[in-house]
Amino acid sequence: MTAMLLAQAQAQPDAGLRHVAQYSARLSYVCMCLTLCWGVLTATGWVRNITGRKALRGSHLALATLTLAFGGVHALCFLFLSTGALSLAYITIPLFVPGALARHELGIVGFELMLAIALTASLYRFTSYRRWLWLHRLAYLAVGLTAVHSLLGAIANGHLAVDWLIGITLLVPTVTLSVLRFLPVRTLERIGLLEEQV
Ligand code: HEM
Repeated sequence: MTAMLLAQAQAQPDAGLRHVAQYSARLSYVCMCLTLCWGVLTATGWVRNITGRKALRGSHLALATLTLAFGGVHALCFLFLSTGALSLAYITIPLFVPGALARHELGIVGFELMLAIALTASLYRFTSYRRWLWLHRLAYLAVGLTAVHSLLGAIANGHLAVDWLIGITLLVPTVTLSVLRFLPVRTLERIGLLEEQV
């Protein structure tokens, strides 16, 4: 038994690290989708009856922090692989290293956009609300890029069969809420999602 485990460890020297990279990626994906859904629900007040706005905003912030923490661990794991490790420049500066894979670039740009949005989230007191909102709404783009990165990453790793069910289950409400957020009020009233105030 010990000999078998030893042989396995020698055949796949980074198996543990790769598992950490995969599981942190999946957790980050789950938190990312929930952050966006919760953000839309908080901004629109569509769940205000369940709990107060302050609690909603707090959970949106907590989910965003978890997304970045797990996403950061996932990306950093690739620095420590004994074979095929990525360099710090590769995982931090998009389009810098020649031959960088497009699917990796999508993850890097998505992650860095999310980081920028999180870092500027508390600055709304110091700038105009419109400008702050414009920056914060880049989150939709960041989630889109990272979702495509996750799909292509799972395919490249041969994990699509494991990842697709939860991946799509979470993506459906995320996309639906994003679309609803940008629909004009009249359309929402027409389809019965908002009641006209008379
Ligand atoms: C600097 C940022 C990032 C880098 C450099 C990066 C890099 C990678 C790499 C190298 C893979 C392995 C498969 C492949 O070669 O494509 C991968 C897979 C994956 N990444 Fe990322 N990634 C980053 C950010 C993120 C973020 C923020 C998320 C989640 C929200 C994420 C989710 C995933 C998922 C779900 C997989 C598939 C895991 C599996 O095999 O089950 N990545 N990523």
